[in-house]
Amino acid sequence: MRLDKFLSETKTLSRTETAKAVKQGIITVNSKVALKPNLPVNEETDIICVSGRIIEYNKYRYIMLNKPEGYVSATDDKSAPYVTQLLSEDLQKFELFPVGRLDKYTVGLMILTDDGRLAHRVLSPKHHAEKVYYFKCEKPLERTEELEAGVHIEGGYLTKPCKVKKLSEFDGEITLTEGKYHQIKQMLYAVGNRITYLERIRFADIPLDTSLERGRWRFLTEDEIEKLRKI
Ligand code: URA
Repeated sequence: MRLDKFLSETKTLSRTETAKAVKQGIITVNSKVALKPNLPVNEETDIICVSGRIIEYNKYRYIMLNKPEGYVSATDDKSAPYVTQLLSEDLQKFELFPVGRLDKYTVGLMILTDDGRLAHRVLSPKHHAEKVYYFKCEKPLERTEELEAGVHIEGGYLTKPCKVKKLSEFDGEITLTEGKYHQIKQMLYAVGNRITYLERIRFADIPLDTSLERGRWRFLTEDEIEKLRKI
């Protein structure tokens, strides 16, 4: 890869800025001053510095966010705050988007990335990635076998088999492998109940990091990224 491509892909410098920085002699590749912007570099092995700062090469970014209530799962919205606004200014430069949607009042685990191919794969219905939600409901939780077998929601759609774990009379966990609009709310409604609290606590094999406060984010670990790739 060319040096100027490396620096623009890592959102360090634009091509014009790289040309200028090369003239100023502030870019080094393995401790040698770079003399031309089109210098071939190996992004995996070369140590590239701008004004002494090492520039890491990460082709894509993968983030875990603990979504707070009131934010929409979008990258832009005029009427409500949206999840990418919770990321740092540095990250705003990348085109990160949420992998799947959570309703405005649902909280918990949300993954964001700029890796479109991976997002597309993990969301594809044919991969059946499990999503686990903790919920509270208004009335005693009953008819769980019906929920597990599938219930009719909007448009006559019959939901796919799922797992429901009753924790107490008024709360439980539900594991889905699909994601229709307001699915859990609609499912509980179909059995005469109503959701009063909804939190996603696991996405595939990745649990919500409970040390992450609501509204805070962190990068996924290598191990977590690997779990996504395995879907
Ligand atoms: N089901 C819902 O009803 N809402 C969500 O945010 C996710 C699943």
